[in-house]
Amino acid sequence: MANRKLNRNSFGDPKNAGRLMTTDEALALLNEWVPNERLRLHMKQVAALMKAWALEKENADAQTAAKWELAGLLHDADWEKFPDDHCRIIIEELERRNIDPEVIRCIACHGPRIFGVEPVTPMEKMIYAFDELSGLIHAYSLMRPEGYEGMEIKGVKKRLKEKSFAAGVNREDIYDAVSRLSVSLDELIDFIISRQKTVC
Ligand SMILES: [Fe+2]
Repeated sequence: MANRKLNRNSFGDPKNAGRLMTTDEALALLNEWVPNERLRLHMKQVAALMKAWALEKENADAQTAAKWELAGLLHDADWEKFPDDHCRIIIEELERRNIDPEVIRCIACHGPRIFGVEPVTPMEKMIYAFDELSGLIHAYSLMRPEGYEGMEIKGVKKRLKEKSFAAGVNREDIYDAVSRLSVSLDELIDFIISRQKTVC
């Protein structure tokens, strides 16, 4: 696997604080960069989780929640076209577009063992925690005839332990991310099941 370490810890320009893209602009970028519909859905799901968590658990105002949402929406934007430079390309694009540094650093934090940037703020810790777990739960919904309906925490945990299920989902990252939070794995799974089922 390519070395995707970013080898930096500072992202964006502080003078761009508060500068975001609209959701339409972000979706236009996704449509251009990400032909894979399933990957676009993954980013929309993480965006919805980030926004909901900011509003419901962090008492964030609308502007702050929009930052959380934008980071989720774009975190894998360069994955499909630039797999060897994943993360670096979208970061540089957002820096060129003068986007808020908190959004850019949050994206850089979604895989600390891969990109070498440690999540510090709640926004950074949550994108790391949601990313893989959201993917596993969505994969589980696709194999259930009822989709998300009636999905239980224990069913998700069973799939989590079953290494052959959604084998691309990194379990180690999930446990590491949760260990950095003050919420339990159960609470996180419950939140994801309830919020992501309506995202399409
Ligand atoms: Fe992701």
